[in-house]
Amino acid sequence: MEKLHFTYQDIHRTAQSIAERVTASGFSPDIIVAIGSGGFIPARILRTYLGKPILAVGIAYYDDEDRPTELPRTVQWIEEAERKLAGRRILLVDEVDDSRTTLEYCIRELLRHKPAEIAVAVLHDKRKEKRGVIPPEVSRYFAGEQIDDRWVCYPWDALDIDEHDRARGVELATART
Ligand code: G4P
Ligand code: MG
Repeated sequence: MEKLHFTYQDIHRTAQSIAERVTASGFSPDIIVAIGSGGFIPARILRTYLGKPILAVGIAYYDDEDRPTELPRTVQWIEEAERKLAGRRILLVDEVDDSRTTLEYCIRELLRHKPAEIAVAVLHDKRKEKRGVIPPEVSRYFAGEQIDDRWVCYPWDALDIDEHDRARGVELATART
């Protein structure tokens, strides 16, 4: 599959644009919930603009016997997240909306903790048929950018960041939008 590279600079600008849209929409989150690990850096940048604390959650793809599972099974709550969610307005953040499976699972887990409101923000939403759904309880959905169904290379996965940035340059030169 053809790849798509984004630099830290791209990510930061995209996060800023999301933050501006969140604010313009009138949604004022009490708390940012980051889905690890891809959501950590986007959430941190959003915090720069929205000024709210971050709670981190992780998704495990294995069962109690450490066998891999088809669907995400467990949300690992970090920093006693559960107690902090009831009655709060949550901005749930991840890097990419791909199949939507993880996102749906995570939203449903959050809903069990009776938040006042949940909005979702992702840097990139892939145009494709989704396997998961955004539950109707989610009041708002912010996608930084809609992209084609390609494999995205994020800067935090790069072993050689300069090489990564050059690859992005090549893509731009060959007229990517
Ligand atoms: P979704 O609900 O957000 O659409 O996620 P989905 O279950 O479809 O994706 C499973 C894993 O694959 C997620 O990471 C997701 O971030 C990652 N992923 C999907 N598409 C891409 C892509 O184009 N590029 C990259 N780099 N990752 C992608 P995860 O297993 O939760 O791990 P983590 O990397 O976030 O720690
Ligand atoms: Mg992820």
